[in-house]
Amino acid sequence: MATELAPGVHWVGAIDWNLREYHGYTLPGTTYNAYLVRGEKTALIDGAYHGFEGEVLGRIGSVCDPETIDYIVVNHIEMDHSGTLPALVKKLPDTPIYCTERARAGLARHYDITGWKIRVVKSGDTLDLGGKTLTFLEAPMLHWPDSMFTYLAEDAILFPNDAFGQHVASAARFDDELGHGAAMAHAQKFFANLIIPLAPKVLKKLDEVGGLGIDIRMIAPSHGIIWRSHAGDILKAYVDWSRGVAKDKVTIVYDTMHGSTTMMAKAIAEGVMAEGADVRVCLLRDGRYEGTHRSDIVTEILDSKAVLVGSPTLQDEVLPTVAGFLSYLRGLRPGRLTAKKIGCAFGSHGGMGGAVAQAEAALKAAGIEVIDGGFHVNYRPDADEIARAYELGRTVAREIRAR
Ligand code: FEO
Repeated sequence: MATELAPGVHWVGAIDWNLREYHGYTLPGTTYNAYLVRGEKTALIDGAYHGFEGEVLGRIGSVCDPETIDYIVVNHIEMDHSGTLPALVKKLPDTPIYCTERARAGLARHYDITGWKIRVVKSGDTLDLGGKTLTFLEAPMLHWPDSMFTYLAEDAILFPNDAFGQHVASAARFDDELGHGAAMAHAQKFFANLIIPLAPKVLKKLDEVGGLGIDIRMIAPSHGIIWRSHAGDILKAYVDWSRGVAKDKVTIVYDTMHGSTTMMAKAIAEGVMAEGADVRVCLLRDGRYEGTHRSDIVTEILDSKAVLVGSPTLQDEVLPTVAGFLSYLRGLRPGRLTAKKIGCAFGSHGGMGGAVAQAEAALKAAGIEVIDGGFHVNYRPDADEIARAYELGRTVAREIRAR
């Protein structure tokens, strides 16, 4: 069944209950949200992955005959939204497709678009459905070059595709149905794993949208729940997250071979807590049986002011789990957030001790300000070194509270 957002506006998407990994992070399933907007004419906004054609067409069919769709709007060409397009075009070969020029070029790289009736639009262009008016706003690199927002003026609904989305599979379609806390937590993980490197563009785009003076009562993204009761809250959260607003909190990320780096991580955490700051201690494993998955760790980092990375040295390198995490963190570039985070590296070693220097270099490459020269211990930390780790935790906590 479709879900009504407003008279003449319906969610007609698909629920992917069993997807557990996407874009490198873990998720409890997701949805691919498509929307039907019906005035005198009917427009379909976005689609789903290939394989969900029947589900999407079934939901459309609960509202109207799919053959009566007059326009298709493609806000974003990534295949989780455009995968159903070839089947739809086959069914509706004469229906115009509205998208950006970059989306047109991108569609041509994904599909054989011979004969597709593509209409390229720019920011400010409108599509009058008769009683419902769609306005397009290009949003390049939020998060692909082709991305676009669509705004429905009569109902004050913004369709921003991936922006403001969350990966969650649920019977709930709206934030008030899922619960505000859960909706924000899923949105925070989505932002941490996808949007951090785009933070400056987010702030610029939100300024631009604010400058349009349009009323936004509902935000209907392409994944997860629709922001019906807390549209203002998710807009504010995107501003805060992009600005790097964070808690007095330290995230300690580490792996260990024989427990020495664990001893250091725990002593550092004790020092942080002694200063009254919050701390998360995350063992880097795959997160299924023990430890914490990298995608949950970067979610913790988003609202932490400090990141400490620990690794023993293996063949003069960081452990492979730590290397994978640091590569993921470098890609996300938390240094793009307005407020910078601080960090440092620690670890034990036997013969060679290159891991700490490598971790420090990776933190710097991610845009994190390294505040300590690196903390090595040889084999097991002794009592003095445990005390030094404790003091390092206190120092980091005091530093973040002073910022
Ligand atoms: Fe949900 Fe960028 O695709």
